[in-house]
Amino acid sequence: MSNTRVLTGITTTGTPHIGNYLGAIKPAIEATLNPNTSSFFFLADYHALIKCHDPERVAQSTREIAATWLALGLDTDKATFYRQTDIPEIPELTWILTCMCSKGLMNRAHAYKASVDANREAGSEDLDDGITMGLFSYPILMAADILMFNAHKIPVGKDQIQHIEMARDIAGKFNHTYEELFVLPEAQVDEETQLIPGLDGRKMSKSYDNTIPLFAPTDQLRKLINQIKTDLREPGEPKDADNSTIFQLYNLFANKDESAAMRSAFENGIAWGEAKRELFEFLDAKLSAPRTGYNELMNNLDAVEAELHKGAEKARAEAAPLLEKVRIAAGIRPLTYVAPKAEKQKTKQKELTAEELARIEEGRRRAILRGAQSLLDQVANAGDPAAEAKAIVAAKTEEVAGLKKKAKQKAENELEALKAEWASLLV
Ligand code: TRP
Repeated sequence: MSNTRVLTGITTTGTPHIGNYLGAIKPAIEATLNPNTSSFFFLADYHALIKCHDPERVAQSTREIAATWLALGLDTDKATFYRQTDIPEIPELTWILTCMCSKGLMNRAHAYKASVDANREAGSEDLDDGITMGLFSYPILMAADILMFNAHKIPVGKDQIQHIEMARDIAGKFNHTYEELFVLPEAQVDEETQLIPGLDGRKMSKSYDNTIPLFAPTDQLRKLINQIKTDLREPGEPKDADNSTIFQLYNLFANKDESAAMRSAFENGIAWGEAKRELFEFLDAKLSAPRTGYNELMNNLDAVEAELHKGAEKARAEAAPLLEKVRIAAGIRPLTYVAPKAEKQKTKQKELTAEELARIEEGRRRAILRGAQSLLDQVANAGDPAAEAKAIVAAKTEEVAGLKKKAKQKAENELEALKAEWASLLV
């Protein structure tokens, strides 16, 4: 079976949290173990500039996200792990795709429309107030991320589905306009992992400021877990496990037995404080080994940098040849470039057998004679066809002699075809 390419990027504007881990990083690392897939994971640092103009934050987030993937056991021999800005082919492809993308498509992008709506609600005179071209055309950069590696499956959150559809549209437009060079990618949305609750019970997300950083130091982890919202049930009162953020987070890391034990503790009226302590101890134990690895990597960023360079080399080995094809398809070529299509036709003719050439020649002769049908009829209907044929050939021969180059060639061809047709009459 053909190899499926899986690709996803994480924007480098925040600190990786438990939602990122369970929703994206963990399943992605597991997918690298499937021998029928090739994985491409990258730090989307060009994307970071779209929404964050704090350089320290972008730089720190890039370190943290890179170290997180490695600390969680990503095997960089099994996956291509790179930083977007190390791949100059991506911004180059972005421009070529920008020229393939209608402005109307970008007008419909959710992120842009949400900003316009916010301006409208705020009564702003300029509906594009504060909106950069980066935000406006961000789906094209994302399309380039994906198309550059001809990825088939793109694991993303629901909010990103529209962008994958736009990448398909843009790929289709390129393929149709120039040449079929791009795979049409598909979004892969895991419903289950969408449900990771944050401290306030809503989906865990940077934008809600309700996250638990994956490698928070022990004290911070305890503090954050203590902030999880609970209801007013007293100790001893049975509690609804499925509606509790504490239970849900516990459950996401637990095996069957651990999960069943916690569920019965809830039914038996565990106090909220106690439940929080259990969750803290459980998570702290689960995360302590990768946290140690993470801290080591954060203190040895040269090693992380080396991993990213290795990934960039692998990624560019894929990107550069495809970009070359894209440039050529669009007409960006060395001045001396000869289109392979013309070459192909030449070799096609060379490969023809004598029989095939004879058939082509016969077809050509028939076509000429069809054009001279009236002469053929004239001879066929003549009382003395041989005399008629000789007369016509003599007259034509004289006519041809007086013609100029191009017309002469055509008339000569016709004369030759007639002579061959009338060969038996002209003896
Ligand atoms: N825009 C995505 C996000 O905010 C991150 C991203 C950038 C991405 N390029 C990508 C995801 C390509 C998948 C494929 O989550």
